[in-house]
Parts: sequence; C-alpha cells; structure tokens
Amino acid sequence: MPFTRRHLLGLEDVSSEELSYLLDTAQSFKEISEREIKKVPTLRGKTVVGMFYEASTRTRTSFEIAAKRMSADFVSLSASTSSVTKGETLLDTARNLDAMRPDALILRHASSGAPHFLAARLDCAVINAGDGAHEHPTQALLDLLTMRERKQKLAGLTVAIVGDVLHSRVARSNVFALKTLGANIRLVGPPTLLAPEMRAWGDVTTDLHEGVRDADVIMMLRIQLERQGKNFFPTVDEYSRYFCLTESAVARAKSDVMIMHPGPINRGVEIASDVADGPYSVILDQVTNGIAVRMAVLYLLTNQARTQTHSEGETQAELAAPEVEVVAPRLRRKVG
Ligand code: CP
Repeated sequence: MPFTRRHLLGLEDVSSEELSYLLDTAQSFKEISEREIKKVPTLRGKTVVGMFYEASTRTRTSFEIAAKRMSADFVSLSASTSSVTKGETLLDTARNLDAMRPDALILRHASSGAPHFLAARLDCAVINAGDGAHEHPTQALLDLLTMRERKQKLAGLTVAIVGDVLHSRVARSNVFALKTLGANIRLVGPPTLLAPEMRAWGDVTTDLHEGVRDADVIMMLRIQLERQGKNFFPTVDEYSRYFCLTESAVARAKSDVMIMHPGPINRGVEIASDVADGPYSVILDQVTNGIAVRMAVLYLLTNQARTQTHSEGETQAELAAPEVEVVAPRLRRKVG
C-alpha cells in the first residue's frame, strides 16, 4: 500500500504516490455520501477523538460526519469546556485521552507544531486539523480532490493563491502538495503578506490582475487577523480595494477557471459575493469533498496497528516540529 504512515501531520514530505493514493481512496468513498443510507461498517469498533483548541465549523463537523459514516465512534473536545480551563497542559490532556485507547486523535491548535509534539509522544494516530500558520493537510487534500475532479489532472495546472499567504496554513499545505504533483504556483498578495523565501514556492506578484491572468484555479485566502500581531496593511477597506476578487479580475483568468476558498469567507473583503456564489465557484464542492477526504484519512490511519513503529517517511526528525511553541495555558485565578 503506498500510504503506510502512522500520522498525518503535513504534506511537505508526502510523495506524489502517497498523495495520489489518498485522493484515489477519497474518490472511492465519495459515493457513500450519495446513498440513501449514508453509513458503512468499515470503521466499526474504532474510536476517534477530536481536540479543537481553535474555532472550526467545516473541519470539525466533516471529521465527525466522516467518522460516523464509517461507523467509528467519535468524541469531540473543545478547550473551553475541558480541563484545559483548569490549567491542564496540552500534553497531559492528550495523554489522558490516549489512555482511553482511541485509534486516532485529531488536533486543531493555534501553535505551529502542536500535532508533531503529540505524535512523538502518543500511541494513537495523530491527524493535524490545522496548526497555527503551519499546515492544514486535510484542507489541501480536499482542495486537490476538487481540482482533480474538475480538471482531470493536477500536473501543469496554474494555481493562483491570493491573499494572506504569510499566515495561511491552507496555502502552505497546498503549495507543498501542488508542487509535488507538478502544478505551477502563483502567490499573490500585498508585499507584507509574502515572505521572500516564498519565491522558492512559485511566481510571486503583488498585482491581483497579473496574478490571476490565464489561471486554471484561483484559490482565495482569508485574512487571518487573529494571527497578525501587527498591521500588515493600513485598513481592511484598502486591502479589499486591491485584493478582493471581483468579476473583472476573474475575467482575466481562463474561461473555465475554478474559484476556491477554504472558508470561512469574509464577503466583500477577499472575495465579492457575486464571485463566491457565481458560476465559477466550487466552494461548496470543496466542503462536500471534505467528507470523502476525511473518511479516507481516518480509514488509512486507523487501519495501521496502534503499536506500529513510525514508517520510513516519519523519522523522529520529521516528528519534531520545526516551530514548536506549545505552552501550558496560564492558570486563571477565580476570585470569590
Ligand atoms: N477550512 C476550514 O478549516 O474551516 P473551519 O475553520 O471552519 O474548520
């Protein structure tokens, strides 16, 4: 089997064979969601735990639906309603959950490297559901599946990724996977949101109309105000004047361009409503494909033995996150 990893932490080191296998597996699961009875026994007896330390609508819900459509038991934990509020660390929380013998633990966390930190310390499979500004591998996989369905290929496509590239884990995972699969990348945004090292990822431009010219795919990104510690542009109004995707910008792309956005959308900021809801938009197809991708990821990871050692692609160096900044939450003292 081309995909034998214990964990899904990111796509930077995932090969084209592994990516294709993940996408093929997801494609094969798609029809389950079209059935009248949307349930198969494939993961009966498996337990999946979701740890969502940051807000999520699509990722959290679709992992839960994916697990349940495959008959796995799914338990979800939010930081705000867990003993994290009493000062328990991420590692202690995860070790306690691991002691309950789940098969997979899904983590969304504001700290880049948090899933890698846990993967090196737990027995169960760890799935990165978005770590800080680092990676969001299942989002990129569902994006790839959506592109491949529409365009019948990924190699040779020109994909313009527009907006807050600097803070976007969606952009990073997509860039890594698209480059592996032979797509051409264009990164578009204000200079403050494009780091110099991104020139190694693809063509870089600060001009929206130039960036989307003749593109096969335009992937819009949300402005990640929650990750911006300083002002990267004067005002949101000024940002949208230059980088909001309108119909006049879309007209410069190929006539069969696909407009993508991972959500949540800030209408009128990075994308005009008539574009988000228009004929080129595949935004809701992306959401639909999120179920199939997450079914595939759960299926492939939970069928690896719990005690299996890490596969060749997961050396300890790779499990050690590049930017781990996992800290214990501050103890909040209650008065009275
Ligand atoms: N695309 C995405 O990750 O959406 P959520 O934050 O709602 O999960």
